[in-house]
Amino acid sequence: MPLINSVFTTKIYQASVSGRGSKRLNDDLKRAAIALAEDDLAGQDWSQQKNYGGYTSYASLNDLPWRMPEFAQLETYIVEHAKTFAAELQLEMSNSTPELDSMWVNILEPGGNHTAHIHPNSVISGTYYVEIYGDSSAIRFEDPRLPMMMAAPPRKANASLENRTFVEIKPKAGMLLLWESWLRHEVPINMSDHERMSISFNINLRNSK
Ligand SMILES: [Fe+2]
Repeated sequence: MPLINSVFTTKIYQASVSGRGSKRLNDDLKRAAIALAEDDLAGQDWSQQKNYGGYTSYASLNDLPWRMPEFAQLETYIVEHAKTFAAELQLEMSNSTPELDSMWVNILEPGGNHTAHIHPNSVISGTYYVEIYGDSSAIRFEDPRLPMMMAAPPRKANASLENRTFVEIKPKAGMLLLWESWLRHEVPINMSDHERMSISFNINLRNSK
């Protein structure tokens, strides 16, 4: 038998924030997100200028965990999971530890989308899903080697997860996804009649010594 190694793998971390208090936290985050969408005029303006189909606090508020305790609680979960993911990635962190760099709310209206992008100046990025309906958009990740695949034939429609060129994950409320920040991703058009509510974030490494 030949030896076939998987190298240069791309890992996507998936967990659910569950257990005691998680339902209440999710409810609190939903209320907080709606309040921000109603009150944050700068965020509303920015979302409109950038043709974001809905509301995002991405460019207007950079202190959500300080502003509201539910975001601080979510930060605690995120950092714990980021530590596990960083260990799985075998990042050299003998002098550093993962720390939340930024966090923002996204409320994507029916018909809205978020075109493909990466998260610059960051190590690990991710999203926590607050409110998702059955037909809400997935998140779609793209093979980072795609620009180099000049002559590669398309993959089979039923190719395994590790061999696909695009991978879609259908989120659920309470789901937390993490990936390395260079991994390009997008949110296709939200075909649902309902808003799709999520909280995205960036993690950087802080010097711990
Ligand atoms: Fe993103």
